[in-house]
Amino acid sequence: MERILITGGGGFIGSHLARYLYSQGYFVRVADIKYDDYIEGKYCSERLELDLRISQNCLKATEGIDKVYNLAANMGGIGFITSVFADIMHDNVLINTHMLEAAVQNKVKRFLFSSSACVYPNYKQTTSDVPGLKEEDAYPADPNEAYGWEKLFTEEMMKSYQIDYGVDIRIARFHNIYGPEGTYKGGKEKAPAALCRKVAEVSDPGEITIWGDGKATRSFCYIDDCVQGVLALMESGYDKPINIGSDRLISIDGLADMIIDSSGKKITKKHDLSAPEGVKGRNADLTLVKKVLRWEPQVSLEEGMGNTYRWIGMMVKKDRGG
Ligand SMILES: NC(=O)c1ccc[n+]([C@@H]2O[C@H](COP(=O)([O-])OP(=O)(O)OC[C@H]3O[C@@H](n4cnc5c(N)ncnc54)[C@H](O)[C@@H]3O)[C@@H](O)[C@H]2O)c1
Repeated sequence: MERILITGGGGFIGSHLARYLYSQGYFVRVADIKYDDYIEGKYCSERLELDLRISQNCLKATEGIDKVYNLAANMGGIGFITSVFADIMHDNVLINTHMLEAAVQNKVKRFLFSSSACVYPNYKQTTSDVPGLKEEDAYPADPNEAYGWEKLFTEEMMKSYQIDYGVDIRIARFHNIYGPEGTYKGGKEKAPAALCRKVAEVSDPGEITIWGDGKATRSFCYIDDCVQGVLALMESGYDKPINIGSDRLISIDGLADMIIDSSGKKITKKHDLSAPEGVKGRNADLTLVKKVLRWEPQVSLEEGMGNTYRWIGMMVKKDRGG
């Protein structure tokens, strides 16, 4: 049986991926600097608490491992990545550099890096009504934030390790993954979770604040679909960057309305134009991933957001001591 390492396995995507692989009988080691306390039940074979900015810890994590899903990163939603630059660059460059080097030293058979839609250039994302971003659109490069530059740099570093050291690489570009058991408070939460929390917290009737004018658009991919996509990529022979996301474009106002509907509350929206909102529009083109991996999302946004809202609603009640 293959031995698998998931870094960032104490976080959102990593814990869902670990639970699935563990349920399939794999040996699954997770490594993270901290573990979200709402991850339920036993979901891995071995759990290491390690700071992966330190090379010795990366060597420890990759010892005896066949396949690495390298998901550990210092990251968050738009509020976080537009206010923290140096720590994101510093921490993630160290994690990814030491993880790749450790993978070479410990003769890991395959190494997957979690890149991001944030690698795509500003000039392709200036209006709400944007066409989906194709993988080749990443160049000429002009990512929006330090976070995007770091992801693009690591994609290049992956290719360099492939050329010089023969590392068998996979690169997933995730587009707005959402679902239960993701960060929903504390400043690192992303738009879907932040909106669910605001709706869950507000009185009925009530009012919530939307960051920006609400007209910016994004596409959102449910966590179960993401897990299946990333597994398909790891098991494929495809070694270039590939989108894992959805191509259903929706405005932030539209997403908020959907969550408000599923709450059953009477809620009005006001807009904070001074808050960060990121690029004006971003969508994923899935032509390549459908062809190469025969994968596309199966869970509708309505169903996925409903599940996410119910989970965050439960957490908000718990936080209030209910
Ligand atoms: N969620 C998304 O929509 C999305 C989109 C694009 C890319 N990604 C990428 O996917 C990966 C997983 O994202 P996620 O949404 O699960 O985020 P997350 O924050 O829930 O998980 C990342 C994990 O990395 C861990 N980590 C941070 N610094 C560390 C360190 N020094 N040592 C060890 N562990 C450390 C964190 O503690 C956290 O548990 C990240 O690389 C992220 O950049 C996610």
